[in-house]
Amino acid sequence: MKARIKSFILKIDKNLDKYLPASAYPEIIYKAMRYSIFAGGKRLRPILTLLTAETCGLSASAVMPVACAMEMIHTYSLIHDDLPAMDNDDYRRGKLTCHKQFGEATAILAGDALLTRAFELIFETSKNKTIKPYNIIKAGAEIAKAAGVRGMIGGQVVDMLSERKKISKETLTYLHTHKTGALISAAIVAGAVLADATPAERILFERFGNKIGLAFQIIDDILDVTANSKILGKTSGKDAAADKATYVKHYGLKASQHAAEKLILEAKVILGKIKRDTVGLESIADFFIKRTY
Ligand code: IPE
Ligand code: IPE
Ligand code: MG
Ligand code: MG
Ligand code: MG
Repeated sequence: MKARIKSFILKIDKNLDKYLPASAYPEIIYKAMRYSIFAGGKRLRPILTLLTAETCGLSASAVMPVACAMEMIHTYSLIHDDLPAMDNDDYRRGKLTCHKQFGEATAILAGDALLTRAFELIFETSKNKTIKPYNIIKAGAEIAKAAGVRGMIGGQVVDMLSERKKISKETLTYLHTHKTGALISAAIVAGAVLADATPAERILFERFGNKIGLAFQIIDDILDVTANSKILGKTSGKDAAADKATYVKHYGLKASQHAAEKLILEAKVILGKIKRDTVGLESIADFFIKRTY
């Protein structure tokens, strides 16, 4: 499994390099996009797209542009999340944040450019005749919904509005499932849809994605308290400093860890209902709670 993931990461990086060439004009924007893309992310979202497609019988290479698009959308969200007007962070992926390195205007544009380049790649998947055009449209619509106001942006807005406030359990769940869970779930669903999985399987994959997506953000909140900045690649302790609405603030460390573990168990039960070889996805689900960065 480790070797398979390693080879996925190598291929993802090779293709990202191809889709975002180093010497294209205007140089500064490509430099900024590449700086953040190649700063050292875990590549979890593209890995999920590749793994799910393979699980459903389609080759990883066929969905590579969509997998890379997921990483571009995710990286754009990090660049904007770190801006002074948002979380105001100086470090990301072990390096200075995009705006610290290139200035705010270029960082904003690099984020915009990654988001739009992602959808260009999704549409261009139609060049591959092994994927049904209808499935490309459907996957694209799922990804757009997850990245937009009904997904990640909705979550980011509630995150912003919830600083220094006591919010309800329901609002906290909305925040986490939308700002982070939606894109993680969409990465999985897109792989299934492109591989022409059955409607029943797509629903199971979505339910699996929602569970592990929420668990992922709970662990992100925990790591902000328990991990050190060097390992994390970003400044820890920022959530408490900004009085963010996190699982840890609401439930405490122990109950948050327990909630994440329960979600992963539930996710694995859902996965067990899919009559395919889901071993790879199961090990990613395990990594989601075992991770230390
Ligand atoms: C961090 O995501 C931001 C969240 C959505 C919680 P990751 O932990 O996947 O970040 P990278 O891609 O590995 O840097
Ligand atoms: C990030 O949430 C969610 C998105 C980028 C959409 P956080 O603000 O908690 O992520 P980190 O901790 O900065 O990586
Ligand atoms: Mg944030
Ligand atoms: Mg942040
Ligand atoms: Mg965080």
